[in-house]
Parts: sequence; C-alpha cells; structure tokens
Amino acid sequence: MELVNFGSLNLDHVYTVSQFVSPGETRSAQHYQIYCGGKGLNQSVAAARAGATVRHAGILGRGGEMLREMLEQNGVDVSLLRQSDAPQGHAIIQVNSQGENCILLFGGSNRAVTREDVDRVLATLHQPAYILLQNEISQLEYMVERAFALGFPVALNASPIDETLLRLDLSKLSWLMINEVEGEQLSGAQEPQEILQRLSARYPRLQILLTLGKDGAICFSGGAQIRQGIFPVPTVDTTAAGGTFTGYFLAEICRGSSYTQAMRVAAMASALAVSKQGAAPSIPSLQQVMEAFTEYSENN
Ligand code: RIB
Repeated sequence: MELVNFGSLNLDHVYTVSQFVSPGETRSAQHYQIYCGGKGLNQSVAAARAGATVRHAGILGRGGEMLREMLEQNGVDVSLLRQSDAPQGHAIIQVNSQGENCILLFGGSNRAVTREDVDRVLATLHQPAYILLQNEISQLEYMVERAFALGFPVALNASPIDETLLRLDLSKLSWLMINEVEGEQLSGAQEPQEILQRLSARYPRLQILLTLGKDGAICFSGGAQIRQGIFPVPTVDTTAAGGTFTGYFLAEICRGSSYTQAMRVAAMASALAVSKQGAAPSIPSLQQVMEAFTEYSENN
C-alpha cells in the first residue's frame, strides 16, 4: 500500500550546548551543523528507509534544495513537491549533553500550503493508500476533511499541538500518534491509561499510538492494547525519534505486518535514531534495524 505524506520540510540548525540557554542569558554552542529535518520529511525518510513506497507532498521554499535531495536519495517520490518563493521552513535546535532538545520553528514555506495544493495532491491518489500528516503545515483541517470524505485512511502525528490541532475532528482519523504531553493536552489526563480511556470514549473508532519515552509505547486499537518497551541505548540526540517511530510503524502497517511487529520494529528504529546526532541523518535503514535485532538477541 502506498504512503502519501503531506508534510513539513525544515532545515535544522542544530547547536550542541552543555545546557539550554535561559531567558536573558548568552551561551556559546560547542558545535553547529545544518541537517535535513522537519517532522514531515523525517517521517517520509523513516518510512522509505523501512521499505515503504512513499510520496512526499509539501512546499519547498528558497534555499531548500538539500531537502529535496535528501528525499530523492532515500527513494521518496518528490513529484508532489511544489516550489514557492517563501523562505524555507527551518528549526533552531539546541541539543544538550543529555541528548534532550528544544526546538524553535519557523514555518516559512510549510505554511504556504493552500487548499488548491491539498486538492491537487488528493486528486493523484488511488486506493489503497495511507495519508500521513503532522501539524507543521497549513491547511491541516481541510486536508483531514477532504481525505476522510474521499475514504482514505489518515494517520496524524499530533505534533506540535496548537489551536488548529485542538479544534481538529479526531474522529476522521484512523491513527493518532501522540506522546504523553500531547496526550495530556488533548485529553486533560496525565496518566497513560486515563489518556487512552478519555480519547477512546470521545472517538470510539480512533486507533492511538501513545509513546511514553523511557516507558516505551502503547498501541491502542479496537479496545485492545499492545505494549512495547524500549531498547536501551546511550542517548545522543532525541530529535526525530517520534518521526522515526511513526514512519517505521506505518511502513510496517502498509506491508501488512501485525501491530505487535510494527511496534517492535518502530521501537528498535527509534532507539537507533536517538543514538545518533541530527534528524533525518540519524534514521536507520531497515537493514541496520534488523542487524540491531540480531545483536540484541545475541546479548540478551
Ligand atoms: O521532530 C523533530 C523535528 O521537529 C526536527 O527535524 C525539526 O525540524 C522539527 O520539525
């Protein structure tokens, strides 16, 4: 099954720091590098590296050519990209010595998505296909409405949460990908089981993938739950861990794997992603994921 990901493309300006900058403070970074990123691009690269057939739709801005190249190098179809004069979307990312990040986004070209773009992309789709979204592009509500009306299953990584997302009709989604913080923002509950209970009471048909950091992840579907623990690794940079999990999980679903298998593969892929610096460059290939499973079973 084809995966069409309508998603953001960012140039990630990554600064390695011992501690995050506080208000009013000036700090020197130890290292600086530009990486390809954006939650949309990261998901496409992850799904493609996981072996899925992926088309990426989105808007390239001024100075974003390396983002197109990154997609192409990973076998992602870029025929649905539109070039615009808007400045390329970008992110200013600090990564501290614990591998945690804080991210300042500038939407730029990612916010230039129009209703015409959505209609143009949807007109190219044929069943069966999955639509994958995140919340770094404009016209999210329209896209969900139209995809639902046309009968395409939609998976949404609810990141980042903002007013648009809080207004969104989640009953039109097949899958909702959230972490604990996003789960709390959407449900008002803090505890994972309470988050799932409240969301499923409100949206009975919604399937949920809830990631819990060091506590792993829960897949919730049709009232049943599958839990997946983490594969412990030294954390270098958590950027793109969520996109890697989402991309790998959906790629497995598209090839007909069980949810248990999809969770396991996604968990190993995101473990490998956090053990390397950068967004898209940290996402492993399926072969690397399989080798990591072999190594893991030899040592455990
Ligand atoms: O999830 C990580 C991503 O968030 C980064 O690549 C950055 O571009 C922001 O979109």
